Amino acid sequence: MNKNIVILISGGGSNMAAIVQAAQKGHWRERFGAQVAAVISNKAEAGGLAWAREHHIPTASFDHKAYPSREDFDAALMEEIDRFAPVLVVLAGFMRILTPGFVAHYEGRLINIHPSLLPAFAGLQTHQRAIDAGCRFAGCTVHRVTAELDHGEYLDQAVVPVMPGDTAQTLAARVLTQEHLIYPRVVERLVATA
Ligand code: GAR
Repeated sequence: MNKNIVILISGGGSNMAAIVQAAQKGHWRERFGAQVAAVISNKAEAGGLAWAREHHIPTASFDHKAYPSREDFDAALMEEIDRFAPVLVVLAGFMRILTPGFVAHYEGRLINIHPSLLPAFAGLQTHQRAIDAGCRFAGCTVHRVTAELDHGEYLDQAVVPVMPGDTAQTLAARVLTQEHLIYPRVVERLVATA
């Protein structure tokens, strides 16, 4: 049986690309029967969708603004995701808050990466908030998704220093290099035992 992974993105999709490349390099298909089966976005223009298509991965997009409610949008999303019967649904820069119904539907199969050392700085503007707070260290967290935003069991974290003169952009770039290491590692661990 295929262990399908479905990745949800809203933007450039660099974490998605890191996972796809790790899957290829690490021979996940041969070792675990696992593959990235689809990349889905709430934005048709998301750069990551073009990258996925170039790599022959099925893509789909659903414009959240075209749906009357969050529930309707999530229902459309779930219908598409469930076509692939995934063992894992990976949020990778997916910038939508999901309904409790969606989260419950994928309980135990839904993970996210957040660009801070949770429980610090849940929500948005994490890098600027870390700089403003005078943090000496920042980082990222891979966690299971629960109905509460940016909560749920932590599966891995990575730490980077905050350097003098950092801006939100320079800190974000430093954190992102670590995201690309820890997210594929967690996904590999989970599909290996799924
Ligand atoms: C990443 O830094 C990810 O941690 C963050 O968005 C970026 C997406 O980059 N996610 C969140 O802020 C979720 N609240 P990518 O599209 O290049 O992977």
